[in-house]
Amino acid sequence: MKTLLVTGCAGFIGSNFVHTLLAGGRDVKVVNLDKLTYAGNLANLASLQDDPRHVFVQGDIGDRALVERLLQEHSPDAVVNFAAESHVDRSIHGPGDFIQTNVVGTFNLLEAVRAYWGALPDMASDVRPSRASFRFLHVSTDEVYGTLSPADPPFAETHPYEPNSPYSASKAASDHLVRAWHHTYGMPVLTTNCSNNYGPYHFPEKLIPLVIHNALAGKPLPIYGDGQQVRDWLYVEDHCRAILRVLEAGQLGETYNIGGWNEKANLDVVRTLCAILDELKPRADGKPYASQITYVKDRPGHDRRYAIDARKIERELGWKPQETFETGIRKTVQWYLDHADWVEGVTSGNYRHWLVKQYGA
Ligand code: NAD
Ligand code: DAU
Repeated sequence: MKTLLVTGCAGFIGSNFVHTLLAGGRDVKVVNLDKLTYAGNLANLASLQDDPRHVFVQGDIGDRALVERLLQEHSPDAVVNFAAESHVDRSIHGPGDFIQTNVVGTFNLLEAVRAYWGALPDMASDVRPSRASFRFLHVSTDEVYGTLSPADPPFAETHPYEPNSPYSASKAASDHLVRAWHHTYGMPVLTTNCSNNYGPYHFPEKLIPLVIHNALAGKPLPIYGDGQQVRDWLYVEDHCRAILRVLEAGQLGETYNIGGWNEKANLDVVRTLCAILDELKPRADGKPYASQITYVKDRPGHDRRYAIDARKIERELGWKPQETFETGIRKTVQWYLDHADWVEGVTSGNYRHWLVKQYGA
């Protein structure tokens, strides 16, 4: 059985990653280290509460003693780092936590993993990987590359780093640490830079789940500025499958850009969500949900356009997204309609009560 230490798995992408990894009865153990910040939600993993392949540990990636203990105890074959402060707006209002977790936390995690990796044997055994087979995969973002104008080609892996927000600067710093730990110490690292994800368990502070939630609650649908900013959307399970593929076959020290070739202006995304909701759950008064669209003050330093050139991972590792934006967004709206209690739980901060009601935990 393979063992992975995965950080940040009570969050949006991490929890989807655990579900993708353990689906179909795969013989893998996941040790999930998560601090349970406001964004961490054990309800995302409730269906795994009796699954011995999932071990949850509440803690901070910056707690080197804890990470060292977990590495000794579980001898993972790989560490995958999702844990981060992830919301751009929050980074603008309070960057401190972003520096602490994304930069200092990643540094402490790297140091704990370097000590563990350095002491691994030359030959793998049933209980321990070898130094050569171990992997550290760092999950990052396309925002480290900065912003594109409409005529620019999408971001390739060779694009210079030009982060513009406190969030993207903190992620860029963590990517540079990971790169340096490979170059200097020879640590077997892989880095992935992905575009905007959407899908189940997405915290309703981010555009897509926020709009679905506000639409159903009869609240305004806030569009920053003119709504013509472009994001490149990827269904979260496609991102999770890409990470698994990079873990299996990625070249050490390399970075892989992951994206769905789905560039959309924010206003078009919101209008699409409104149209699907009009069809699946029409408003009681018969008015379209788009009537709730409200233009609000723009985000400071708002990046105009992100787009990913995903040809390297497609060519070298044979990964391709399985969902189009049209199939993925419909599935996503349906998921939120079917999981109103999950949304209620995370928005009220009351998910423990939700868990008890749902699963008797
Ligand atoms: P999220 O905010 O939903 O989840 C983050 C998780 O990390 C939470 O469970 C939180 O409790 C945990 N966490 C935060 N600080 C921690 C700490 N110090 N120690 C341990 N756990 C901690 O984020 P997400 O959207 O799932 O993003 C996951 C990763 O993917 C992040 O590194 C993010 O930068 C990256 N990413 C996200 C997107 C996206 O569209 N959401 C796209 C590309 C890359
Ligand atoms: O590109 C990858 C990044 O995508 C990840 O690294 C981040 O962790 C993730 O949060 C996401 O960042 P964005 O800032 O692109 O996502 P967000 O959902 O916050 O916003 C998407 C776009 O919608 C952005 O242009 C801002 C706009 N927006 C957002 C909100 C919350 C609005 O117009 N109104 C809103 O209320």
